[in-house]
Amino acid sequence: MSMISIRLLVGLMACTGIPVSVSCPIKMSPTAVVVKYGDPFSANCTLSSDEPIGLGWESSQGGTGVKRVSNLSLIVDSVTDLGIRPHCYAYYRDGNQCQQLLPVTIYKMPESVSMSQLSPKGTMIEGEKYRMQCDVIDVAPVRYLSVYWYKGNEIVHKETFEGHSESKANKSSFLDLFAHGLDDGSQVWCEAKLDLPMKPDLPAVKSQSHNMVVLYPPTFINPDNETQEVRPNDKITFNCTATGNPAPKYKWLFPHRIQSKDKDLETNQPSLTPSLLLPGTYSCLASNTRGSNIKYFTITELPRDYTTLAAMVGGIASLGVLGLIMGYFVVTPQGTFSFSQGSYQPTSSAPV
Ligand SMILES: *[C@@H]1O[C@H](CO)[C@@H](O)[C@H](O)[C@H]1NC(C)=O
Ligand SMILES: *[C@@H]1O[C@H](CO)[C@@H](O)[C@H](O)[C@H]1NC(C)=O
Ligand SMILES: *[C@@H]1O[C@H](CO)[C@@H](O)[C@H](O)[C@H]1NC(C)=O
Repeated sequence: MSMISIRLLVGLMACTGIPVSVSCPIKMSPTAVVVKYGDPFSANCTLSSDEPIGLGWESSQGGTGVKRVSNLSLIVDSVTDLGIRPHCYAYYRDGNQCQQLLPVTIYKMPESVSMSQLSPKGTMIEGEKYRMQCDVIDVAPVRYLSVYWYKGNEIVHKETFEGHSESKANKSSFLDLFAHGLDDGSQVWCEAKLDLPMKPDLPAVKSQSHNMVVLYPPTFINPDNETQEVRPNDKITFNCTATGNPAPKYKWLFPHRIQSKDKDLETNQPSLTPSLLLPGTYSCLASNTRGSNIKYFTITELPRDYTTLAAMVGGIASLGVLGLIMGYFVVTPQGTFSFSQGSYQPTSSAPV
């Protein structure tokens, strides 16, 4: 075997936790350890054959000397070496030895997670792009680190990190977001979470929340122009309410000069009920420092007096009926009794 392939083999075995000497008569309990940085852990190494005469733990923390025992504990009060690789050795009478690795995964919860608006700084403006930064300080191992970005309780981005190092690291995640009027008042934050396959329930560490302030032009809650038919003396309320930042100001324009005396016109109202409602097009201008928007309300009159027309139609019909009745009476004295015989000739008909 070449040097390279030996290294590869050893490296592979070390990574997967397979003992370098498969035949080493050792049993470990537990077979692997997942422990939080600074916490204690222990493990037992037990001989599974009578041949070796002793055991020993070799470890940067909690190592033991060689002992003439068949069962030996490794005890670490507070694990602080992120690169710890404890091996249990079995010793034979002839001086030979074999070893087995105890795989230890140490995780370090982030010291802190913080978020900031990187660039550009200052109040956000609708349509512009902003870069946010999330800093995760002193976390390990980074290959299990995920950073989640939240905007208003929704995850908008997730980032994971590469790396084989066990050591503590600082990591930054970036989020590019286009400011939208709807985001005004939303909270943005990031969370760092260690997603260890063997320990899936570790809590996330949250950054502080950033309250988004987005400047945007007035946007009508009901953006469509409105058309409505009215009868004289109807009362109608025009609703021009718009969202926007800064808060929109409203200006109303009424179609007839006579209406300009309406005192409501002077007020900065999002909705208005004209005291004199005449047909025509009314408009409302909502504006703020970011822009303005107009909404139109068109008022038409219903066909003139629908009820009078109905009365007229009714009148004509009843005249007709009266005519029929009169005809009936006119005809009867002449002895021609039945309408169905076609002998009926109306003698009077209503003028149409
Ligand atoms: C190790 O062995 C001791 C004594 O046999 C036992 O009390 C302890 O619980 C064991 N520890 C582990 C991690 O198995
Ligand atoms: C991480 O950042 C902190 C604070 O800025 C610093 O003290 C520490 O040395 C950094 N750690 C690494 C591994 O770079
Ligand atoms: C309302 O009417 C105006 C003028 O006719 C028009 O420019 C605008 O696009 C209309 N708005 C909507 C939302 O239909």
